[in-house]
Amino acid sequence: MTTTTTRSLGTTGPEVSALGLGCMGMSALYGHADRAESIATVHAALEAGVTLLDTGDFYAMGHNELLVGEALRTAPAARREQALLSVKFGALRDPDGGWSGYDGRPAAVKNFAAYSLQRLGVDHIDVYRIARLDPDVPIEETVGAIAELIEKGHVRHIGLSEVGAETIRRAAATAPIADLQIEYSLISRGVERKILPVIRELGISVTAYGVLARGLISGHFGRDRQLAKDDFRAYSPRFQGDNLHHNLDLVDALRKLAEQKGVSVAQLAIAWVLSRGEDIVPLIGARTRERLAESLGALDVTLDEAELAAIEAAVPADAAAGERYAAAAMAHLDSER
Ligand SMILES: NC(=O)c1ccc[n+]([C@@H]2O[C@H](COP(=O)([O-])OP(=O)(O)OC[C@H]3O[C@@H](n4cnc5c(N)ncnc54)[C@H](OP(=O)(O)O)[C@@H]3O)[C@@H](O)[C@H]2O)c1
Repeated sequence: MTTTTTRSLGTTGPEVSALGLGCMGMSALYGHADRAESIATVHAALEAGVTLLDTGDFYAMGHNELLVGEALRTAPAARREQALLSVKFGALRDPDGGWSGYDGRPAAVKNFAAYSLQRLGVDHIDVYRIARLDPDVPIEETVGAIAELIEKGHVRHIGLSEVGAETIRRAAATAPIADLQIEYSLISRGVERKILPVIRELGISVTAYGVLARGLISGHFGRDRQLAKDDFRAYSPRFQGDNLHHNLDLVDALRKLAEQKGVSVAQLAIAWVLSRGEDIVPLIGARTRERLAESLGALDVTLDEAELAAIEAAVPADAAAGERYAAAAMAHLDSER
């Protein structure tokens, strides 16, 4: 594979680069990010052939959309035109950075979209999705509202995020769905049980996030790393105490295999997700050009059967200690029901 290799987002969605760029960490959740370097990273990604950029209106309350908008405005026209924007909405925030639920009511969907278009400085969003199921609003209503935005030309395609098999079926019965965004990595394999079979049956792709388990299996996360109070990982069960040490032991096992192959741990982990199927598009969370270059290197890594078996033996499914979110956030995951 090369940086210009494409994968299709479902049977109805656009062709996108085999690796997408997730922009969340450039604004929120993983501690400080350098704005100029973040924008340079988006430019370098577009230059290298990445076409899919993922953001959310609630990533630092619009900060991430403004940043992506600025990166697009300052990119050469040809690069800007190749960019496809995947945008999440629905998470409710407060001025102190708190999270107060989700809103998938049709009027709210249209309101969120109006603000996102403005902040991004674009006339349409390529793939639009609610970040989590709003338990008080049937998915048909939320998806129906996005379908109306499509009719009016404000959105091109509908995506889903962290929902389970039944919700996926209901959404797909309402309107064509391009992709499901969901966590998928060597240590987050829950999607394989009930969700992948359904989306394959329905012709929906996966945009996989947390491919490096938020840096945990990147090979760069040190055992004694101190996390800022506003860093998501300071509260994530997988990064706490004994869980962290257990999980980093898994990374050490992975590191041996990466060294044998002459690649980095991050490249091995990303290549493994790429190997799961043509319908899987990993979103890489790089926020520096250095990390971007490392991640894109995964496109050159081909894993044969013996190597895949060795990886599976080093990090068996369900080997990780700790859930992928803290309990309060797990409760919002329709995908875990
Ligand atoms: N739908 C959803 O619910 C949902 C949830 C979360 C994220 N997302 C989307 O998915 C995207 C990717 O998720 P993620 O950021 O959690 O992914 P990730 O790739 O698992 O984690 C990114 C973290 O890994 C570290 N890292 C170390 N080596 C790296 C390398 N070579 N390349 C990239 N990162 C490296 C980065 O740290 P340093 O920068 O400190 O090196 C960063 O903190 C997000 O940006 C967001 O757009 C969606």
